[in-house]
Amino acid sequence: MEQIMRNFFLFLSNNKTLTKAAKKYGFRFGASRFVAGVNINETAKKIKALNHQGFVVTVDHLGEFIDSETEAKQSAQECIKAIKVIAEEQLQSELSLKLTSLGLDISDELVMENMRDILQAGKAHDVTVTIDMEDYARLDKTLHIFKTLKQEYDNIGTVLQAYLYRVEEDVSALNDYNPYLRLVKGAYKESATVAFPDKADVDQNYKKIIKQNLLYGNYTAIATHDDEIIAYTKELEQAHDIPREQFEFQMLYGIRLELQERLLNEGYKVRIYLPYGEDWFGYNMRRLAERPANVAFVLKGILKK
Ligand code: FDA
Repeated sequence: MEQIMRNFFLFLSNNKTLTKAAKKYGFRFGASRFVAGVNINETAKKIKALNHQGFVVTVDHLGEFIDSETEAKQSAQECIKAIKVIAEEQLQSELSLKLTSLGLDISDELVMENMRDILQAGKAHDVTVTIDMEDYARLDKTLHIFKTLKQEYDNIGTVLQAYLYRVEEDVSALNDYNPYLRLVKGAYKESATVAFPDKADVDQNYKKIIKQNLLYGNYTAIATHDDEIIAYTKELEQAHDIPREQFEFQMLYGIRLELQERLLNEGYKVRIYLPYGEDWFGYNMRRLAERPANVAFVLKGILKK
């Protein structure tokens, strides 16, 4: 049953008509549980509050189904605006983005131009920019873009997904670039030809790449809400004397708040991934796919309206 629900929510997250309808009818359906707001100014208040608690943040402007150059440029401008607000308000925040929202599926020139504009603004204002990892079909292109831009800019990072069979090789291939990597389990529906179908295998592979990247000495973000993976990272820290300056934990806004606070109190750096924007629908459906029990929160959100 859980698998059926998961597939159903992933199907909804990929539905263009529903995404556009959700945008039109506004910020509803329990959206505020996982998303900060629709614009950067209201989001800045949330970042400030999180910083005040001791968390650092990465803010993500949500953009789905971008299919024109104009939309991709607008999305890039929104990212640059976010960087400026982060700097002006002296917020402790990075910026996360998806290459499809900047024109990855439209043209190579467009996405590169947008990325360079954003990274340039980030460099000027001392803001790090990380590229989220999307579905497998876009992996090679995303890694190629990351490697190219990493040779031009220091303020860049990206994500690798533990559910992919090939991820260990990718961690190894990126090592020469001294990368800032965010390691995750993986959120998309992928074929068993490229990704482990079983959670136990994903978890095992996740542990392997955390160890691999930490022992390479690269800065590593362990982005998970999984107690066992977090405990494993702490064991590695002890066993290999890994300095706390070399890693951080990251979690999604609104998920496992007690765990976020506990790690902070234990002296770890904890970064909250805080999405905002009008395109909140697909993001929320992916969170429901991860944990269909979250439907209860969404229903409460609808009933409150
Ligand atoms: P897992 O799914 O095993 O969950 C462990 C426990 O956490 C659960 O038992 C539950 O208690 C809790 N939990 C997990 N998800 C929850 C939810 N939605 N609601 C409530 N509780 C929940 N993926 C990707 O493919 N590309 C990317 O770029 C990113 N980027 C990214 C950034 C950050 C900062 C995070 C934290 C995650 C991502 N992800 C991602 C998503 C990631 O791949 C994965 O789908 C989710 O983090 C859920 O997996 P967990 O590691 O938390 O483990």
